Amino acid sequence: MIQLGQYPAPSHVIAHVSDTHLLAGGRPLYGAVNTIDHLEQALAQLERSTARPQAIVFTGDLADLGEPDAYKRLREVVEPAAARMKAQIIWVMGNHDERAQYSSLLFDDESDAPQDRVYMVDGLRIISFDTTIPGYHHGDITDAQLQWLSNELATPAPHGTLLAVHHPPIPTPMLEAMGMLELQRQERLAEVLRGTDVRAILAGHLHYSTHSTFAGIPVSVASATCYTLDLSAEDRLLSGVDFGQAVNVVHVYKEQTVHSIIPVGDTTEITGHSAEAWAQIEAMTPEHRLETFSAKNSTFNSADAAASEEDA
Ligand SMILES: [Fe+2]
Ligand SMILES: [Fe+2]
Repeated sequence: MIQLGQYPAPSHVIAHVSDTHLLAGGRPLYGAVNTIDHLEQALAQLERSTARPQAIVFTGDLADLGEPDAYKRLREVVEPAAARMKAQIIWVMGNHDERAQYSSLLFDDESDAPQDRVYMVDGLRIISFDTTIPGYHHGDITDAQLQWLSNELATPAPHGTLLAVHHPPIPTPMLEAMGMLELQRQERLAEVLRGTDVRAILAGHLHYSTHSTFAGIPVSVASATCYTLDLSAEDRLLSGVDFGQAVNVVHVYKEQTVHSIIPVGDTTEITGHSAEAWAQIEAMTPEHRLETFSAKNSTFNSADAAASEEDA
C-alpha cells in the first residue's frame, strides 16, 4: 500500500488483547457471556484488518478461575489464529490466573514464582511482567522483581521496550471501586522505569479502554474481550455488561507509539467505499488526491457522488 500521509511505515505492529476470562468446558461466564465466541470474534477481526501483527500480547486474566481446561481452550483458539497471522503469542499473568496452571499449561514449566519473561520481536523488546499476588485480586511487585526489571532495562533494546502488565499503574476516576484492586506501591515501579527505553506500558484488568501516562511513559489499557464495565451505570458499585468489548493494535514508529481500538462485534456499514478505489488513488498525484478527497466541493465529497456510489 502506498504512503499517503507524512509518516513512513511503522517498524512494528503489535496486537493487544486482554481479559479473555475463559472457563473450563467453555461454559459461559456468569452463565451469560460466551467468552470463547467473543475471543474468536476478536481474533477474526484482527485477522481481517490491515494490522498484520508481529505479536499478540494478552495482558492477563486469561482464565477466569485458573482452570487447566480453560488454558487448553485458550491455546486451541489463539494458536491457530496467531499462526495464520504469523504472530508470536505473548502471555501475561492476571489476578484471575493461577501461576502453577498458567506456567505449566502455557510454558510447560510448572512454577509458583512470578511469571516475568522477556521477548524480542525484531529488535523491539516486550517484557511480560507479573503484577499479581497469589490469593488476591489487587496487584503488587516484589523487590526481587523490581531488581530483575532494573537489570533487564539497564541494556536498551534496538527499538526500545514495551512493558506488558495486568494491573495498569494509573488512577481509575470513573470507577472508584477499582482503586481497591489496583497495583499498590506504584512509585517503586516508576523509579525503575524513569530514564529507561520503555516506550509504552500495555495493561488490562479494568475491562474498559483508557489511556494515561506513568513516569512520563504512555499507558494504554485494552478493554476486555469477555465483558466490560459500564462507566455510565447509575447507582452501581460495579456493573459488568456484555457490550463494548475491544482489542487494540499498537503501531510503533520511530518516535511515537499509536494505540488504535477495534470494537469487537459486527455491525452494518452505513457509508463506505470499495477497496477498488485504491487503484485510482495510486494513479493520482498528491495534488490531485487533495483536490479529490479534501476539497469540500469535489465530486467525490458531494452528496450526489455519495448517492450515485450507492446506486452503482
Ligand atoms: Fe479481568
Ligand atoms: Fe484483573
